[in-house]
This record gives sequence, C-alpha cells and structure tokens, in this order.
Amino acid sequence: MSTFQIFYLNGKPIPFKQGETIMDAALRAGEYIDHLCHHPEFRPHGSCRICMVELDGKSVSSCTQPAIANTQVDSSSDEMIEQRRSLLQMLFVEGNHICPGCEKSGDCQLQALAYQNKMLSPHFKHFFPKRALDASHPDVIIDFDRCILCELCVRASRDVDKKNIFCVDGRGINAKLIINSPGGKLGNSHFSADDKAAQICPVGAILPKHQGYDIPIGKRRYDQQPISEVDMDNQEKDQQK
Ligand code: FES
Repeated sequence: MSTFQIFYLNGKPIPFKQGETIMDAALRAGEYIDHLCHHPEFRPHGSCRICMVELDGKSVSSCTQPAIANTQVDSSSDEMIEQRRSLLQMLFVEGNHICPGCEKSGDCQLQALAYQNKMLSPHFKHFFPKRALDASHPDVIIDFDRCILCELCVRASRDVDKKNIFCVDGRGINAKLIINSPGGKLGNSHFSADDKAAQICPVGAILPKHQGYDIPIGKRRYDQQPISEVDMDNQEKDQQK
C-alpha cells in the first residue's frame, strides 16, 4: 500500500508522506514556493512568512504547516502575491538593502524574490538603521544593516558547525543578531570562512572578504535565471545525488 497521500497546489496534485510540510512536499515534487528563512537542510523556522499560502482559504506558512490530504493549497492567487510583496517591501525598508551598492547583488535571495514578485518600489518609508559593521574577522565581514533575522547562520553554526557563534537577541523591531564572543566581535570567536554559517546567508549580511565582485554583476546566479528556476535546478541535482 502506498504511504503517499495527495494535496493540491494551485490545482496540481502533490504527493506527500504523513508529517511532511507543504513546502517540503512541493519542492520534492518540483514545485517552487517562495521562501527565505526555509532551507532544506535545516529544521523550519517559520519567521519570514514569505512562504505563506492559502490552505482551504486560510493563510498558513507552508514551511511549517504539515500537508493535509485532499486539501487545496494556493500560493499564486493575487492576494497571496500582494501579501508576499508587502512582506518583501517591509524587509527592504527595515534594513539597508541598497542593491546597486551590495556585493551580493545578483546572488541575493531577497533581491531575487523582489524581482520574482514584481516589487517595483519599497512602498514604505525606509528605517535607515545604523548598526556598526563588524570587520574584525580576517576573512569575513558582517553588515548587520542587511540582516533579515532568518536565523540560518544561527542554525548552521549551532547544528552543523557546532560552534554556536550567533544568536538573535531582543524582540520585534529591537531584535538583532549578536555574536557569542568576548566583546561581541566576530574576530574574537572561532568563526571560520569555511563554516557552513559563513556560506548560508541569503542576503548580503555575512560576506567573505578578499573577493569582492569576482563575478561581475549581471553574470550572477539570479541575474541569469529567476530564483524559482535556480532553486528547482538545485533541488533536482540534490535528488540525483
Ligand atoms: Fe516559511 Fe520563512 S520560509 S516562514
């Protein structure tokens, strides 16, 4: 007897196993749902809300919501796209995401999702936060003004690197990424540019030094293909391993 059941994503049948989230089942079936704080290698975090979908008419985050048999899930209605665009606009104005001046441009998931959702302006008033850069590490720089608090670096450092270098302190508008080290500086920690946490930032908050603009803007990942296609290509390669 098959262990798979079915739900419908934008009208398309998606098989899933009991306990699997809507996001995981959709990605495995080759269907992309926009996301930022989700990463297939880590437990879901459910903080960015970019992955919101309608499940039988109710808004849920698809990275944390277990799939339910025979339900209708909609990720592409006008309301869902509008809601996602507003969330992206809020993320843009909360930090200093000035794409033309950012080394991550073209490789940034926030920027790529803004393109994908046809975000044409930030809409809201910019906060222009002023948080000091941390350039104390010899190989990596942290720009806290670009951190979107997805906690991927927190999870990677804790669960993969086993160093527990990052955590998020405070709540709401006062929440911020902090470094667990004497003086709170990255240079005083055991962080390495080879750490998983150094390579997982979806935006330009954690960047390697010594290699700025090696690949010209215009020739980078999301300059060539929309994020949905890049992600699904990667997913396919992972499944073939
Ligand atoms: Fe689901 Fe961030 S990807 S809440």
